[in-house]
Order: sequence, then structure tokens, then C-alpha cells
Amino acid sequence: MPSDAELMEVSLIAVAEAGVELRHPLFARWFAAWPERRATFINTDASSRRMTDETLEMMMGLAKGEENWVWPLVAELAFTHRSYGRLPWAEYESWIDLTIDCIGDAAGAAWSAEADAAWRRHGERLKALIIEAREGWDRAMPGHILGELPTVG
Ligand code: HEM
Repeated sequence: MPSDAELMEVSLIAVAEAGVELRHPLFARWFAAWPERRATFINTDASSRRMTDETLEMMMGLAKGEENWVWPLVAELAFTHRSYGRLPWAEYESWIDLTIDCIGDAAGAAWSAEADAAWRRHGERLKALIIEAREGWDRAMPGHILGELPTVG
């Protein structure tokens, strides 16, 4: 029985072999779902590389049992994204779901029900960590979100 990490790696290799640069279909579908979000991006080319790569890294890290570095990266992500306002949770969820959908489309014949289940499992774990990080920052630093600064004095 291959591990989740092995199943996930096989699909990523298939995406690479198909010559698909995942960020392109992913951002196209995500912006189609949330057209108003496009304007928040100042440098879509640079950010689409990092957002896509780090999302994949985080899910792979979780599948490999490497929470020790995944958690600080997630906490960092939740904090740096504060500059874009209170990002709606539905957009986060759909970002992760669409990332996995796009891997499945691009992996073609290498995709399987087992690979799909492995990605979804770690996608759900990543969502739970992002919720935990967002709630943690809210408790530790009320008003840290752009547009929600407390008045001083
Ligand atoms: C696991 C989920 C996500 C990860 C790992 C992630 C990661 C990143 C990274 C690494 C950057 C680049 C930051 C930089 O260049 O300084 C970025 C930028 C950005 N992200 Fe995310 N992100 C995620 C989800 C989201 C979601 C769901 C939204 C919106 C609802 C979002 C909105 C943005 C925006 C607006 C930028 C800045 C773009 C720019 O100024 O060009 N991200 N993200």
C-alpha cells in the first residue's frame, strides 16, 4: 500500500511530466470563482508562484509527518495575509479545493481515487491549521487585520 506522500508525489510528477504549470489553471479557476479578488493582487506573476508552491509544500509536508515546519509557515501565512483585509474563509477553502482539482486534471491517467483521497485528507488538515492560525492571531493581536485597527487613546 503506497503512503499518502507517495501517492501525492506520483501525481505531482505526472503534472510536471505533462508540462503543466499548475499556477496558470489554478489562478484562472480561482479568479473565475472570485473575480473581485483579482484586484487585491499587485504582482500576480510573483505571488501566483509562491502561493501555489507553498500550498503544495504544506500539504506534502503534512503527508510526510513534518508538522514541525508546516505549522510555523502556516502561522506566517495567516499573519502576512492580514494586509489584504479579512479574507473570507470560503475563498481559502476553495483555494485549497481547486488546487487539488487542478492537480487531478493535470495528472491525467496517473490520477486515482486513492491519490484524490490522500490530497483531500491533507487539504482538510491544512484548512484546520489555517483556521487555528487565524484564530490564534485574532486572540494574540486583536485589530491586526488591515481595516480593523483599534483606535488608540
Ligand atoms: C494555503 C493557502 C495560501 C498560501 C500558502 C498563500 C501564500 C502566499 C504567498 C507565499 C504569497 C506571496 C507573498 C509575497 O510575495 O510577499 C501570497 C500572496 C498573496 N495571497 Fe496568498 N496564500 C494562500 C491563500 C490565499 C487566499 C485564500 C487568498 C485570498 C482569499 C490569498 C491572497 C493573497 C494576496 C492578495 C497576495 C498578494 C498578492 C500581491 O500583492 O500580488 N492567499 N500568498
